[in-house]
This record gives sequence, structure tokens and C-alpha cells, in this order.
Amino acid sequence: MFQRISSKEAIALEDKYGAHNYHPLPVVLSKGRGARVWDAEGKEYYDFLSAYSAVNQGHCHPKIVDTMKDQAERLTLTSRAFYNDVLGVFEKYITEFFGYDKVLAMNTGAEADETALKLCRKWGYLKKGIAKDQAKIVVCENNFHGRTITIISMSSDPDAYTDYGPYTPGFVKIPYNDLSALERELKDPNVAGFLVEPIQGEAGVYVPEDGYLKKAYDLCKKHNVLFIADEVQTGIARTGKMLACDHEGVRPDILILGKALSGGAMPVSAVLADDEIMLTIKPGQHGSTFGGNPLAARVALAALEVVKEEKLDERATRLGEIFRQKMRDIDSPMVELVRGKGLLNAVVIKPHKGKEAWDVCVKMAELGVLAKPTHGHIIRFAPPLVITDEELNEACDRIKQAILSFTE
Ligand SMILES: Cc1ncc(COP(=O)(O)O)c(C=O)c1O
Repeated sequence: MFQRISSKEAIALEDKYGAHNYHPLPVVLSKGRGARVWDAEGKEYYDFLSAYSAVNQGHCHPKIVDTMKDQAERLTLTSRAFYNDVLGVFEKYITEFFGYDKVLAMNTGAEADETALKLCRKWGYLKKGIAKDQAKIVVCENNFHGRTITIISMSSDPDAYTDYGPYTPGFVKIPYNDLSALERELKDPNVAGFLVEPIQGEAGVYVPEDGYLKKAYDLCKKHNVLFIADEVQTGIARTGKMLACDHEGVRPDILILGKALSGGAMPVSAVLADDEIMLTIKPGQHGSTFGGNPLAARVALAALEVVKEEKLDERATRLGEIFRQKMRDIDSPMVELVRGKGLLNAVVIKPHKGKEAWDVCVKMAELGVLAKPTHGHIIRFAPPLVITDEELNEACDRIKQAILSFTE
């Protein structure tokens, strides 16, 4: 039997034995169900982070857990040296689900982004005819695509890249939501792709102007450049559509998914594209020991079914509107701005008498709502999409109470 420990012990252990690469709120979670989590002492919270949108289907969704148990008792890993009897079923399901010829399964979001970058470069050389080692990929400032050396080479966040050089060349950074900068760069015939988050999540839930994605896509088509959407955080119903790109009727040439692809049960990511792109990678040219393992494939299939069966996209749209309205109704000088789409939202906090977004999050935690500040002054609110109306209302009341406690 695993020996359960107290919150205090858990924090002390992580502090002493774990790398200090995170700065968590002092809350130790021990159990989760739907939109709720419980700490080691049994205190209940609403989870308004959802593991950065990985738990869209809710914590420990019974269908996902049952599927996982069933497959775990049968076969978990074969490597791709052999076939397994689940991967193909999953591949058929997900490609039909999103409408692509092929999928390449990986594990983390960063790996899927890396895969997309490799596919894009291959396509650039083999199909577009870019000269050897000259391919460029256009990316946006304030992006977040993960933590590998190549990915942080695209980053404009000093915390992400400082002292990790030398960096991977071949990226051109332009401001987000800037179509003229994009068009300028796309004229370079060595540009193979444009990588973009439909909403910049980690940057603080920056929603581009309406029409940006469609116009960016059209520009890419005009210049024979691949439009690559990183939907690791925005995908799988989070913003009210199955993909955030669906809001503008855009079908990315390369689609990157992760996080909620497994409902948060385990790392599963995927890259989808049509044959012209996907088949540029031949046997032996890319892979992963765990990518496409039968456990992941079963879990991801179940996780996608849950999203469809429970119409989580519709829930996200409806509850997102209620959430933003309730936040805008809070009468406090600390609420500077409320923005977002579906259930991916942010409140920009104006410091008040030395109290900042972090203090608001600590107060919310005390009142039983968990969220985390990003970039100091922004609080992202992204509950599991299965949250009920009553739960959302109760959580909004607590958020309001936390914010008002600093100004009343
Ligand atoms: C848009 C986006 N891409 C990629 C990643 C990286 O995913 P992972 O942490 O699973 O590597 C994240 C994680 O937050 C993300 O938000």
C-alpha cells in the first residue's frame, strides 16, 4: 500500500529532493473528480487550471479510467518495432475525427511541436524545393510551444531561453496578431511554415482579432507556406469548438494536439496532416519508444469519445459566456480586463495596495478555487469542461469574494 503523507510533508519532500523548476501554490492535491480536487487533508477545491487545459474531460473521468485499467491489464507498450492491435484503431478514429489523411502519435506537447517542425522542414526541402539547410519557419513573439532546446530557440521569454544556448537556427519571430509582418516574411521563398497558437495560452490568453487566423491561413496559401496550428492548449473543445481554428473555418496544414487528448490521464500528443506532408518522413527518420503505445491509444480514443458524447464544446461556449460576464460584473479596481473564448479565459489584475495576482490566487485557494497567475498580473481560468452550472456559479462567487477582499 502506498503511504499517504500530509501536505506539509509533501511540500518538504519536493523542496528537498525535487528540482526547483516550478513555483507552485502551497496546495497539495491528493484526489480529483470532475471539476473538483481535494488536498491531502481533505479540503475541497474547484480546479480552475485543469493542468493547463489537459483535464478538459474532468479529473478521473470514469470512462477514461475504466478504459485505462482495461488496457493496462492487457498490454501497455510494444514499441513501434511491432504492431499492436490498438494503434491503428485509434489512428483511424482520430484522423476521421479531425479530417486528415494521417496522424503521428507522440507523448508530450513539446514532442508533437518538434515533430511538426521536422515535418515542415522535410516538406520544405522535398516538396517546396528549398535549398539544403535554408528552411525557415515563422513563429510569433510571446509564443509557448514547450521546453526543448529547439522550442526555446523560438521563444521570446528570457526565463525560457536564458543560458540554454547555443540555439537552433531557422526561426523568424514576428509579433502575434500582425498580418503585415507575416506577409512581409512569407515573401521569403525559404519560408516553409508559419507556426501559431490560435489563442496564446501561456502568454496570458491572448485572443487575436477576429479574422486573424483565416487571413494568416490565406497568406500562407498564397505563398505556398504550411499553416501549422499548435492546439495543444486550445484544442479538444476548450475554446467552445473542437479546435480553436474551427472558429474561423481554418483547417491547418499541420495540426498539433496534446494535453486533453488523453483527458489528462497520461501524456499523449499527436500531429495530424495529409499524405503530401506526412509521408515525407520515412521509416527510421522519426519516432519515440512510447509514442503510439496501446495504452495511450486506447485512452486517447476514449478521451475523444467523451468530448463528443458529452458535447463539451457546447458546454464550453455556454459556460464561458456566463463566466466572463460574472467576472466583468465584479465591481473592483483590481479587475482590469476579462478576455477569453469558451472556457479558456483570463482576468488581468491591476495591483492594489501592494496586492497582486499571486495574492488573489492565494486567497482564492483559501476559499476553495485553484488558479495560477501567469506573467505576474494575469490569472488564467480554465476549469474542466464538465463543470456543472451550479459549480461554476459557486466558484465565480468565491473568485469574486477573493478579489473583493482586497478592496473592501
Ligand atoms: C500551446 C502549447 N504547446 C505546447 C505545450 C507543451 O506541452 P508539454 O508541456 O506537454 O510538452 C504547451 C504547454 O503548456 C502549450 O500550451
